Amino acid sequence: MSLAPTSDIPIDLAREAVHARLRSRAAAHCDRTAVTARELAARFGVDEQAAELAGLLHDWSREEPDAALLAYAEMHGISVLDEERAHPYLLHSRVAAEQLREDFRGIRLDVLSAVAAHTVGVVPMTPLDKVVYIADAIEPERAYPGVEELRETAANCPLDTVFGDVYASSVAFVCEKGAVLHPMTALVAAQVERETGTSPLCPKDGERP
Ligand SMILES: [Fe+2]
Ligand SMILES: [Fe+2]
Repeated sequence: MSLAPTSDIPIDLAREAVHARLRSRAAAHCDRTAVTARELAARFGVDEQAAELAGLLHDWSREEPDAALLAYAEMHGISVLDEERAHPYLLHSRVAAEQLREDFRGIRLDVLSAVAAHTVGVVPMTPLDKVVYIADAIEPERAYPGVEELRETAANCPLDTVFGDVYASSVAFVCEKGAVLHPMTALVAAQVERETGTSPLCPKDGERP
């Protein structure tokens, strides 16, 4: 399927494709993430069009069954770590980036990077990657302890600080569940520490992963 020939993917076409592909609840989350990403991009001087598109498309592969994610990754040269084999859901971001490259010919690489980065991050996290990661975590229907504080931070603090806090919140959630942190977490945490002076790794287990 090739939906557009150029790098300028019309947002309405992308929205239509998302709603045709995902269940309504997931598609609505993508709509809200797109709006939030665009607002954050405007605040932080990031490309608003790219942020909106990446926000809209970020969960393109979210509903793929585990076996399909693994099979797609293996067939397309996407490396699969042990943690991802145990929890293939973790692959949905990198698989989405590759599937979008096929489905939206000419889609911008910075948009694909932001999509790929939205679960555990990539290194380095670019400003656009951070905006989309944050938007996914704080879009208006997100409801978890601390999300209001993160929204407050997002409205008042520099981008690096906001991303550091949101990433720390994600890490804490994984630690509280007793789950194993993805190896990428250490690399992203190191970038956050360099940029903000604070490590997002959970204090009780600061040496993981
Ligand atoms: Fe996702
Ligand atoms: Fe999402």
